[in-house]
Amino acid sequence: MKIVIKKDKKIAARYVADQIIALLKEKPTSVLGLPTGSTPKGVYDALIESYKASEVSFSNAQSFNLDEYLGLEASHPQSYAYYMRKNLFDFVDFKATSTHIYKGDTHDAQKECTDYTNRIKAVNGIDFQLLGIGPNGHIGFNEPSDTFNMHSHVVTLSEKTRKANARFFNDLASVPKKAMTMGIGEIFSSKKIYLLALGKEKASIMAQFLLSDEIDPHLPASILHIHPELTVVMDKDAACSYQNA
Ligand code: F6R
Repeated sequence: MKIVIKKDKKIAARYVADQIIALLKEKPTSVLGLPTGSTPKGVYDALIESYKASEVSFSNAQSFNLDEYLGLEASHPQSYAYYMRKNLFDFVDFKATSTHIYKGDTHDAQKECTDYTNRIKAVNGIDFQLLGIGPNGHIGFNEPSDTFNMHSHVVTLSEKTRKANARFFNDLASVPKKAMTMGIGEIFSSKKIYLLALGKEKASIMAQFLLSDEIDPHLPASILHIHPELTVVMDKDAACSYQNA
């Protein structure tokens, strides 16, 4: 594991964006695994800035989002499909057919999950997976549990996750109770993984994750300890408890 600590969020985001840009230069057909939420926002801003400066193109790349709320259609402002359009896809040159995300309004979530796993297999897996981390250690929406769930699946969101995400909704009751997520297997088989953690709210979970190499499905991110190409990127705030330990 490589650990990179940057002075602030913006510098950390630019560092991650530059890794994506370097990969796309080397392999323009790269498959990117992308998260939503607060953490990747600065990375997407940096990628848009570089795209506008003609420093990167996504025209031959593909993307797979990590997860989507079950029950929200793609036009719903809190859906991850909407987030991706408003924060990245509308501003860069991905082909519309090259960006993949679960259909939140599917009537057959099991089938949607199986299809998604197969679509990832069909492109030979993900080259570069960017991850955020939940305050309970979740990656994608792989919540703490007694076992690791390997493939795309429907998940019941924990109260901690629903409360953490309520800031994007009018109230807690409006936060969907279920989601579809890539499994630990799909995430783990990515060739490179970048775990980005920003802000004081992530300090405690990052210390927990980094200071023990025990693999425990109750801290889903712990599986990443055995990934051969993991880079953890933090700003000083997210790194503070780890550094002071
Ligand atoms: C979102 C996702 C989640 C988030 C995590 C952190 O697609 O996969 O695992 O990365 O919940 O969320 P933020 O970045 O909002 O703190």
